[in-house]
Amino acid sequence: MLALRAAAVTIGPYVQAVGPYELTVCWETDAAVPTRLHWGASQDCSVTYEDALPATRHEVSLSGLRAATIYWYRLDDAGALGGAVPVRTQPDHPGPVRVGAFGDTRTNDAAHAQVVADLLADNPDLVLHTGDLVASVSESYWQTFFRIEATLLRSVPIYPVLGNHERNGSRYVQLFVLPQQGGQRRYYEARWGTVSVVALDTNQAVAEGSAQWRWLASTLAALAGDPGVSFRIVLLHHGPFDSGSGHGSNLDVRSAMVPLFQSYGVDIVVSGHNHDYERSTVNGVKYVVTGGGGAPLDTVTGAWWTEVATSSYHHCLLEIGGTSLHFTACEAGTGRVIDEFSLERGAASPMPTATTTPAETATPTPTPTATATATTTPTTEITRARRRVQRTEP
Ligand SMILES: [Fe+2]
Repeated sequence: MLALRAAAVTIGPYVQAVGPYELTVCWETDAAVPTRLHWGASQDCSVTYEDALPATRHEVSLSGLRAATIYWYRLDDAGALGGAVPVRTQPDHPGPVRVGAFGDTRTNDAAHAQVVADLLADNPDLVLHTGDLVASVSESYWQTFFRIEATLLRSVPIYPVLGNHERNGSRYVQLFVLPQQGGQRRYYEARWGTVSVVALDTNQAVAEGSAQWRWLASTLAALAGDPGVSFRIVLLHHGPFDSGSGHGSNLDVRSAMVPLFQSYGVDIVVSGHNHDYERSTVNGVKYVVTGGGGAPLDTVTGAWWTEVATSSYHHCLLEIGGTSLHFTACEAGTGRVIDEFSLERGAASPMPTATTTPAETATPTPTPTATATATTTPTTEITRARRRVQRTEP
């Protein structure tokens, strides 16, 4: 009798869709095998979920969990990461939130690994990725991305946006279990406690009146009137105020979406695309470019909007508590603080450690005209097999 070859894990395990009462564990294997996940509220993972249907992509969604509680999971065989892994569910009440941010991880694996190690040391609840996760959509790049990110993403959910290097995003949409809104997941709003993250797909049309623009206007209007939201963070790949040498600013985003950011009280807009760090304040909105996650570095010269700019590998940390937000950007490896500022809800209090000087006085951007209501356009999605597990007391 021939022995069945054990399948090797090629991607993951990693966690997605971590809420107060649910989380999803994802992984992929190089051969179709049954899905088996051991999990529980203690490290012995005494509950086993099994699905005999062979698959190469495995997603197990655990629901009915307790909020702000550590759960553990392990696979039968995931190589060096095969041991039990902890994941903490979201709290269901306001409290401190730690948000990591980075982007443009792409090709310098050593720099990417250092940025991941630095993020892990900051103990974030979630991490934001500004896009260009991979250099190309070749599967080997995705496997390398998840290998480098393994120790972080096995416990910390990542909320990415599409960069130009992810192209049409079909694999991206399959890999990331993001909030589905209006039948699509390429742009979305995610909530962690009182913090809202509005993630955009700037590969798509952003012009006033476009489907995404109407969705953004509606979403930001709702958030502006939501007393349960403390800070509003917009995440996108192509930033509107960016003096990096690689690509500069995206003027379509600037003309169409910046008025919405201003009108509806967005606190920070986080972008990538240029491979450097830059921070600006334009009409009360902070703009941060964090594209130093592993792609070849660009030079950044500064422009009239620039308060801080530096060309280095780095990551960012947003520490949010109550109505206060403290932002730090740190150089990879050295931990050197390259920027730092604080915000109080409704009032900005910049504390720059500036390295550049604005070239000219800030120019006001156009008055917002957003009055649209939400209308989203469904896009084609890859059908995923979701496996549901109701809570069983371990
Ligand atoms: Fe890019």
